[in-house]
Amino acid sequence: MGQTVFAGKKIVIGVCGSIAAFKVAGWVSELAKEEAMVSVVMTASATEFVTPLTFAALSGNNVHTGMFGTGKEDVMTHISIGRDADVILIAPATANVIARLANGMADDLLTTTILATRAQVLVCPAMNSRMYAHPATRRNLQTLKDLGYGIIDPESGMMACKEEGDGRLAEWDTVKEHLAKSITPQALQGHKVLVTAGPTREPLDPARFLSNRSSGKMGYALARSAFRRGAEVILVSGPTALPCPPGVTRVNVQTAEEMYEAVLTHAGACSVIVKAAAVADYRPEELHEHKVKKENIDVNLLLAKNPDILLELGKRKKTGQLLIGFAAESRNLAEEGLKKLRKKNLDLIAVNDIGGDNTGFEGESNQVLLVSSSGTEILPHTSKLHTADLLWERITSLLMQSPQKA
Ligand code: C5P
Repeated sequence: MGQTVFAGKKIVIGVCGSIAAFKVAGWVSELAKEEAMVSVVMTASATEFVTPLTFAALSGNNVHTGMFGTGKEDVMTHISIGRDADVILIAPATANVIARLANGMADDLLTTTILATRAQVLVCPAMNSRMYAHPATRRNLQTLKDLGYGIIDPESGMMACKEEGDGRLAEWDTVKEHLAKSITPQALQGHKVLVTAGPTREPLDPARFLSNRSSGKMGYALARSAFRRGAEVILVSGPTALPCPPGVTRVNVQTAEEMYEAVLTHAGACSVIVKAAAVADYRPEELHEHKVKKENIDVNLLLAKNPDILLELGKRKKTGQLLIGFAAESRNLAEEGLKKLRKKNLDLIAVNDIGGDNTGFEGESNQVLLVSSSGTEILPHTSKLHTADLLWERITSLLMQSPQKA
């Protein structure tokens, strides 16, 4: 459900000779599923690890392996591949190819294509950790950075050579986000944004807590989408099972009071704050140090009110800063949204109809009603990531109208 940013994009993948080449076959398959137009260029040594047929079958396109084709149509391949590309990804990038690129060499189809392109080039190094740590490789990678290539750092861990260290090919989720970023207009570049996500947990004793059904998926999608648009993203998250989105700085909290502290610490430096977290309004008045025996539990649990973080942010809002809230409502969505917008001094509020089918907690999709002082807009029922994209589009237009950058 929803749209993929990769649909119709021309992505060239340069595969070099490393055992990690087999992982990239899976990436090609993922991108083809997301309707990208993938062309693969393989170095001669890459074809020793994985056959061109594998990449041809997964991409649905012919694989380019040499400078010199058989017919007239092949003569200018090294120019045409790079000229049409939206982005070029080199994965796995060996120490050898990195060295050749750093020196501007053009001695095979891949390096010639790179030299001839004006598209963004992303490089995913993968090699033995000592080769990766060698001063020559460090210098070559720095040269590529200085030349404007994007470097997606390798991970640390056990490698095919049975040694541990830095040099394992980056994970697909990370690479996918960098690819998505490279083809997304950088409307939030230079902006620091804060997103909150997930539920809060309000403990009664070491074993029990009060919480709610929030999965954190909407807030995490907002953080992911903001990274793709070039923002520096801080995600203040209650407990969730979700991995931190690539490129995002996550601050983990448990309770509403911890979220309050974390949000207020970072809010001043942010131009946009989106509060997608489902903060518990109340906490047990008393926190027991030890587990309360069931026979001693008072059946009437006394509650204390938690701070309203968004209300506080609204009071402290700086000129040019945008404040976006979420609200879960089961009726009178527009009216309730407008009340909260005014009460909390918000610029925009996304109202979830929790009475609707699959449009709020836990699910993969959402449908929200946007309420601002200039009116309401119902977004389509779509994936949470697409909802996040649409929300950032609206926020970006508000940023362009706002008096000055926070
Ligand atoms: O008033 P209500 O709780 O429905 O408002 C929801 C919005 O307020 C959400 O954006 C939520 O993150 C925020 N909120 C908050 N602190 C609370 C309760 C809600 O920041 N204690």
